[in-house]
Amino acid sequence: MRNIIIDCDPGHDDVLAIMTAFANRDRFNILGITTVAGNQTLEKVTNNILKVQDHLGFAYPVSMGYDSPICKPLDVQPAAHGEMGLDGPEIADAVSKPSGKHAIEFIKECLEKVDKLTMVCIGPLTNMGLFLKTYPQLKNKIEEIVIMGGSYNLGNVRVKAEFNIYHDPEAARIVFNSALPMTMAGLEVCYSGAINFDEIDRLNEKNGKATKLAKEILEFYKGWAEKRGWTQTAIFDMTTIIYLLHPEYFDLKMMNVDVELSGVYTQGMTVCEEISSYSRINNPVKVLMAVKDRFAFLNVFYEALNKLDQECK
Ligand code: RIB
Ligand code: CA
Repeated sequence: MRNIIIDCDPGHDDVLAIMTAFANRDRFNILGITTVAGNQTLEKVTNNILKVQDHLGFAYPVSMGYDSPICKPLDVQPAAHGEMGLDGPEIADAVSKPSGKHAIEFIKECLEKVDKLTMVCIGPLTNMGLFLKTYPQLKNKIEEIVIMGGSYNLGNVRVKAEFNIYHDPEAARIVFNSALPMTMAGLEVCYSGAINFDEIDRLNEKNGKATKLAKEILEFYKGWAEKRGWTQTAIFDMTTIIYLLHPEYFDLKMMNVDVELSGVYTQGMTVCEEISSYSRINNPVKVLMAVKDRFAFLNVFYEALNKLDQECK
């Protein structure tokens, strides 16, 4: 069993990633969830994961982190996730409450209790970066940091920058320069595992609560891609969970990666360099390049929904 903490900004794809983790509790010891401002304000993203847990019957501790990036102003994304951050599904508002602990205090307490844990970071890296700055003495108990973020060459929020990194590049630079084992699920690998719109249509909401919620989430989330004339949407954050379950599903490459902090077109860019004897960057990162088999990849998602449909009545 791998001890994990999921640091997130739910977010449509965050929720689907977390649901996939919930369905695989036999593989993950989920210590808790920490939230960070990104897709929407800290309050909204926290409420979103609380109400999803209430709806599905889960109650992992949820601890709120930072409400804005280290240096830049907050830059929420209503165009992709709506005004509330999880627009689309009609589920009851949250009854449960956050833990009352700050996210970095929660991470600290978990690290003091376990031998090792994996941080799964699927939002801006503000919490992770500031945890590393605040409690450096605990960092070596982190066995791996797996992020959805960055890219080998593409951009979504800017021509060469992916949202999670662009939102807080200073925090991202701290994480990439931590010398901890790191795995990066960037835009390219997420796009290679995208779900087609007709595959979304084939999700049968009558199968159960989880499939119904996932379909409503994807019906809204596909809008960002649809506006661009695409016929499929990546479920970005879910890539991290499927990597942890099936690393063999991915083509990957060790590369040196660092983060550009400035530049009209390049702020938030993850600069990926081939590793050689004359490398200029010294941050070896496992970069997921592509999903080998899109059907096998998505089947993990479908199986997770089937499991949750049986469990969550
Ligand atoms: O660029 C995709 C990332 O930005 C995902 O984590 C999504 O949730 C948004 O936060
Ligand atoms: Ca996210």
